[in-house]
Amino acid sequence: MKLWSGRFKKETGKEMDDFHSSISFDMRLYKQDIKGSIAHSKALLKCGIITQEEYANIKEGLEGILEDIESGTIRFDTGYEDIHMNIEKLLTDRIGETGKKLHTARSRNDQVAVDFKMYLREQIKDLELSIAGLLRTLTDIAEQNLDAFMPGYTHLQHAQPVTLAHHLMAYFEMFKRDVGRLRDCRQRMDKSPLGSCALAGTTYPLDRELTASLLGFNGITANSLDGVSDRDYAIEFLAASSVLMMHLSRFCEEIILWSTGEFGFVELDDAYSTGSSIMPQKKNPDAAELIRGKVGRVYGNLMGLLTVMKGLPLAYNKDMQEDKEGVFDTVDTVKGCLSVFVPMLATLKFNKTAMYKAVKSGFINATDVADYLAKKGVPFRTAHRIVGELVQSCIQRGLPLDRLSLEDYKRVSPVFEEDIMDAIKPENCVKARSIPGGPAPQQVKKHIEKSREFLAGLFENQ
Ligand code: ARG
Repeated sequence: MKLWSGRFKKETGKEMDDFHSSISFDMRLYKQDIKGSIAHSKALLKCGIITQEEYANIKEGLEGILEDIESGTIRFDTGYEDIHMNIEKLLTDRIGETGKKLHTARSRNDQVAVDFKMYLREQIKDLELSIAGLLRTLTDIAEQNLDAFMPGYTHLQHAQPVTLAHHLMAYFEMFKRDVGRLRDCRQRMDKSPLGSCALAGTTYPLDRELTASLLGFNGITANSLDGVSDRDYAIEFLAASSVLMMHLSRFCEEIILWSTGEFGFVELDDAYSTGSSIMPQKKNPDAAELIRGKVGRVYGNLMGLLTVMKGLPLAYNKDMQEDKEGVFDTVDTVKGCLSVFVPMLATLKFNKTAMYKAVKSGFINATDVADYLAKKGVPFRTAHRIVGELVQSCIQRGLPLDRLSLEDYKRVSPVFEEDIMDAIKPENCVKARSIPGGPAPQQVKKHIEKSREFLAGLFENQ
């Protein structure tokens, strides 16, 4: 019999039970649900709805259920719809009438909201830790590659020389912002909705601050309608996860590209690559490709929940039960991606020789030639045209800029002197870009040092 069956003349059919029941996925919230119920029963005790003895019975009953769920001896029933009613039914079966008092001054609407927030809070903290591991790995690799010169690209064409360290620290900044976004979202969701009840609060003098602090929230939601209607926190989590996945995907795309025969900048560790069932020579970057591919489902989950919520009148509507699977899938996907990405990156072998060869091969130092002229008084626009013509003649002769003679340079501009040869060495082009945020090794070193300080303080007071 349903816990809400009093008003009905007949039972729901099996199709309906299967259709609207969420226990198959919201059983993931069992721990939060039990913790939430214990806190709620404490508030019931405080306002005299249950006695000390009843409180002790409820608490003990719920703790027993928790143990049994964890040891795998409990089978949930779709007839009881969701995790909340399954646990309540189990409790009543175990402790009798007292169990039926637990749902006083509470609704599944505030119950599910508090469970979901607690779950997400915990998962986001885990993710922050995983991203911190990624940030640490990036600083470690960057530190060893301060002068590993490589081409910087725009439009995927050689643009200006940079270093591997500089390139990796660009990702550091992106993932650092991802931690910030996740943390903002975690901190914003840190208000307990418990006591909002169905939508209009309750007539009982429930101590909402008490349950909030027992459950580790830093305060309570300010409006009971909002308390049960809000799913912004889940959407923010999906949005922050989408941006994080987009960053991972860009990085994976580069690893895939760099591991091609054409680039040859990296070699993946065997543990993170796979072979082909027909082509014996193949070593495929499957892990990186899968991460790139999994972005699709995370974006999909974000769009899914935004769409679920967009037309809902206040307060709770059953549509909102659709919030969970996308969030759970996103948690699993992002955690799974990070768990493979971090060791894949840590074991990646960088081929500095190939990178250096690529830097030397084209006209990546052309801006530096123009800057050379500009520093000697030639207007930059004029210098740009002179160097453009120089590049044009190099292309015709099949030569890079550093294979031209001083006479060749002097032919296009008398301003060139012997020191042009030094000015266009990739290492000097990079070193000369010692503006804050630039690729010069001394600047990147400073950035790494600051980043390490940031990492050391990341979990202080958290
Ligand atoms: N399983 C439901 C959900 O996840 C719990 C809340 C149900 N509330 C209700 N009034 N039907 O949304």
